[in-house]
Amino acid sequence: MKIATIVGARPQFIKEAVVGEELRKAGFEHVLIHTGQHYDYNMSEVFFNSLEIKEPDYNLGVGSGSHAVQTGLTMMRLEEVVIKEEPDVVLVYGDTNATVAGALVSAKLKIRVAHVEAGMRQEPRDMPEEINRVLTDRISSILFCPSQTAVKNLKKEGMEKGVWFTGDVMYDLYLKMEKQFDYSLSEQLDLEENGYVVVTIHRDFNTDNRYRLEEILKQLNMIVKDKRIVFPIHPRTRKRIEGFGLENHLENLDIIDPLDYLSMMGLVKHSWKVITDSGGLQKESYFAGKQAVVIMPDTGWIELVDAGINCLTSPEMIRESLLLIHETKYEKGLYGSGNAAAEIASLLG
Ligand code: UD1
Repeated sequence: MKIATIVGARPQFIKEAVVGEELRKAGFEHVLIHTGQHYDYNMSEVFFNSLEIKEPDYNLGVGSGSHAVQTGLTMMRLEEVVIKEEPDVVLVYGDTNATVAGALVSAKLKIRVAHVEAGMRQEPRDMPEEINRVLTDRISSILFCPSQTAVKNLKKEGMEKGVWFTGDVMYDLYLKMEKQFDYSLSEQLDLEENGYVVVTIHRDFNTDNRYRLEEILKQLNMIVKDKRIVFPIHPRTRKRIEGFGLENHLENLDIIDPLDYLSMMGLVKHSWKVITDSGGLQKESYFAGKQAVVIMPDTGWIELVDAGINCLTSPEMIRESLLLIHETKYEKGLYGSGNAAAEIASLLG
């Protein structure tokens, strides 16, 4: 049986590191297609190197652009590859433009689509990732859910057939790589354990609105009076800060380039708390036993909020939320037992 996997952006490379390995172990013929959505060295290649992900068989070279350009170009270039390779199943991850493009091309070629991280739902409904998730789930025939919440979400929308709770492959990766986490940044930046907050921001509703972005930066400047702020900055966020002329708000923060997985996890593991709008980091901080303040009106990972581990906040309330969150009860095992990738491979067989 032949499986073609589509990746395009950072969070997908991370997932591929564990799922790809299990697919090959299970004896599938496996074609890896990189759409080229993320192309900077530290947004793409560094993950392939440090997580020893197999070199993609194809790179579609799509790059940056509007949603229509990115999705359309991916579809056009991908269709040729899928027709040529004739896979039995096309596997897509998460909620990016590569996900929806991959699902649409394959479903229309009558190839079965397997969606890893199916069933995630969150407000605002018009955010690009939410549109991608809803559409992808609708046209996938195999839906692998990372949480019980995701299973319930699909049920509410009438999807029960082909739905599997597997747990989250990101938890598998965390456990697999824990011993190799890289703590060298602590030394380079002279960081004290529990003495700093890790910040990441890249969602369009936070970066593309001048008021929200400036408010977020103002709050970080208040927090930095007590705790250092280490902020690996996404290229989109850097461009917006420069475009809005907000660079002066960065002076007191430790601004660094985006990090590879092992350095990021080392940074989080020794941090005090996390401030983020990343879906992945909300869970990775939980895996590391840290709490996260999430700058979003809603989250797909709502069980972490319900358990009192993470909290949702608005730009104006970041500092207050950071000071107020202290967990009530540390619930373990929300995302399976660390063998989601093996489970996915066996269900595909
Ligand atoms: C994408 C995903 C998002 C995911 C995120 C992880 C969609 C709709 N969104 O958002 O779900 O959480 O990846 O990072 O697919 N850029 C570079 N170099 C790069 C990549 C991006 O400079 O290697 C800049 C470009 O200016 C680009 C902007 O970042 O226009 C945004 O990149 P894009 O891939 O469109 O979306 P992300 O914000 O990364």
